[in-house]
Amino acid sequence: PHHRHIPSLSLLAVRILKRALLWTYISATILRGLVLGVYEKQSDNDGIHLTEAAAAFDRSISGKLSEMLSISGPPLKKGKSRIFYGLHQDFPSAVVVGLGKSGTCVCGKENWNNCKENIRAAVSVGCRQLQDLEVAHVEVDPCGDGQSAAEGAVLGLFEYDELKTKKKVRVTTQPYGSVDSAAWQKGVLYGDGQNLARQLMEAPANHITPTVFANSIEQKLSPFAHKVAVHKRPQSWIESEQMGAFLSVSKGSEEPPIFLELHYKGSLDSAQPPLVLVGKGITFDSGGISLKPSSGMDAMRADMGGAATVCSAIVTAAALKLPINIIGLAPLCENMPSGKANKPGDVVRAKNGKTIQIDNTDAEGRLILADALCYAHSFKPRAIINAATLTGAIDVALGSAAAGVFTNSDWLWERLHKASIVTGDRVWRMPLFQHYTKQITESALADLNNIGKYSRSGGACTAAAFLREFVTADHWAHLDIAGVMTNKDEVPYLRKGMSGRPTRTLVEFAAVRTSRDLRV
Ligand code: BES
Ligand code: MG
Ligand code: ZN
Repeated sequence: PHHRHIPSLSLLAVRILKRALLWTYISATILRGLVLGVYEKQSDNDGIHLTEAAAAFDRSISGKLSEMLSISGPPLKKGKSRIFYGLHQDFPSAVVVGLGKSGTCVCGKENWNNCKENIRAAVSVGCRQLQDLEVAHVEVDPCGDGQSAAEGAVLGLFEYDELKTKKKVRVTTQPYGSVDSAAWQKGVLYGDGQNLARQLMEAPANHITPTVFANSIEQKLSPFAHKVAVHKRPQSWIESEQMGAFLSVSKGSEEPPIFLELHYKGSLDSAQPPLVLVGKGITFDSGGISLKPSSGMDAMRADMGGAATVCSAIVTAAALKLPINIIGLAPLCENMPSGKANKPGDVVRAKNGKTIQIDNTDAEGRLILADALCYAHSFKPRAIINAATLTGAIDVALGSAAAGVFTNSDWLWERLHKASIVTGDRVWRMPLFQHYTKQITESALADLNNIGKYSRSGGACTAAAFLREFVTADHWAHLDIAGVMTNKDEVPYLRKGMSGRPTRTLVEFAAVRTSRDLRV
C-alpha cells in the first residue's frame, strides 16, 4: 500500500500564508493600473508639461516619472503613449498619454472643443492598453476635465462581445487624485448612454427585434419608474391611430411592429411643453421588394440607430435627473420583402390623410417617420427633434464628420450646434429648400412620392423635404445620422463598429435646455 506524503501542519500553514500573501499582492498591485496625461511642449526649451494629477504622482515618487519620461524617448505626441512598469507600488503599470498642446480649446474651424476631444482620445488609448494587459482596475487622470476623461474611459473601453465566448476583461475605472466627482459621474452617464445605443445598434437583428428593443428600453428605465411612463403600443393601436404609412412597411415582416412611447417627466411643472424626440426604428432594413445588394447588408441591423440614440438619450436624461419633460417616440419594425410587402407603385395613406406613392420600398424610414411626426404634434411640443439613419446620400455629403441637420428653426439649430461643440459629436446644417419639396410632391398617383424625381440628386435633402410634409411645429429638426452610424477609425475614442452617435449631443442639448429656456 502506498502512503501519500502528508505535510506537517506548520508547512501547511506556511503554504496557506504564502497563497494569501500572493493573493493580496495580486489584488493590490498587479490588477491596478494608472492612466496619466502629458501635454505637448509649447516651445522647444519647455520642460515636460504634466497635468496636475500627473505632477502630483510625479512628486509622490520624487520625480521618477518625469525622469523616466525624458530618458525613454522624444516627448509624447498627441494620442501616443508609453507604459512604465513598477514606478509605484500601488500601480505596477502606468500609461502616460499625450494630450496635445494645452491652451485654446474651442476651435472655430473644427467646430468642436480640442481640449475635450484630446482628453477623450488620450484616456481611451490608455484605458485600452491596460485592458489589453488584462488590468481590471484603472485609475484615470481627470486631466482637468473629469467629464471628458470619464467619457474617454467609458467609451474607449466599450466592446460588443456579449455573443462571444472569449470576452475582453471588464475594466472598472475611477478618477485618480482629487477630483470633482460630479463631473466624473456625469461623464460616466454620458458615456454609458452612448454605449447603450451602441449595444442596441450592434446587436444582431434576430436578437434585437422590435419587441426586444422595447423591452430593453423599458427595463433600462425601470429604476426611474416614478418619473417615467413606457407604452409599448401594439399593432391594434397603430391601426386605430391610422398610421397607414408605418403599417405598410411593417406588414412585410413576420415580426410584429411596436410603436414605443416614452414619457420622462423631469420638470416639476407637469404642464411644461415637452421636448419630443422621434427615432427611426427599423430593426432590419433589407430594402423590401426594392431589395438591397447583399454585400454589407448586415449593417442594416443598425437601421434603428435613430430609435437607439433618442431612447438612450432619454434613459440618460432620467439618470441625470434633468429638469425637463421629454417624450420619446419610436416606430419599430422590420423592412422585409414578402408576399405582403409594399410593392413599387403602391399608394398608402398617412395619419394626417396625405397619400404617398411608394416608388421605392427601400425609402421606408420616411414612411414610418411620417406617421410618428404627425403623432408627435399631439403633445403640443416645445420642439420636435427626429433622428434617423435615413439616406446613404448624407454619407456621400458629409461622411462621418457630422450628422446632417435639416431644421425650420434657427433657435433649434443654434442650440444643437452649441451642444455638439461641447460633445465633439458634431452636426452640420443642411438646406430645406422648396426646390427639394417640388421633387417629392409631383407624384403621378398621390400627394407625395417617397423618392425624389431625380432619384439620386440631393437624396438627403429630398428625404428631409418629404418629412417636412408631416410637420407643422415651429421648431423641428431632422438629424440624418446614416453617415455617422458606423465607426471605422475616424473617432479615436470609439472602437470599430456601430457608433451610438449622436446620443451625447442629444443629451447635452436637453441638459442645456434649462426649464427657463424650454418654457414657452
Ligand atoms: N436605411 C437606409 C439608409 C442607410 C444607408 C443608412 C446606408 C445607413 C447606411 C434607408 O432606408 C435607405 O435605404 N435609403 C435609400 C433611399 C433611396 C431609396 C431613395 C438610400 O439611401 O439609398
Ligand atoms: Mg431603406
Ligand atoms: Zn432604412
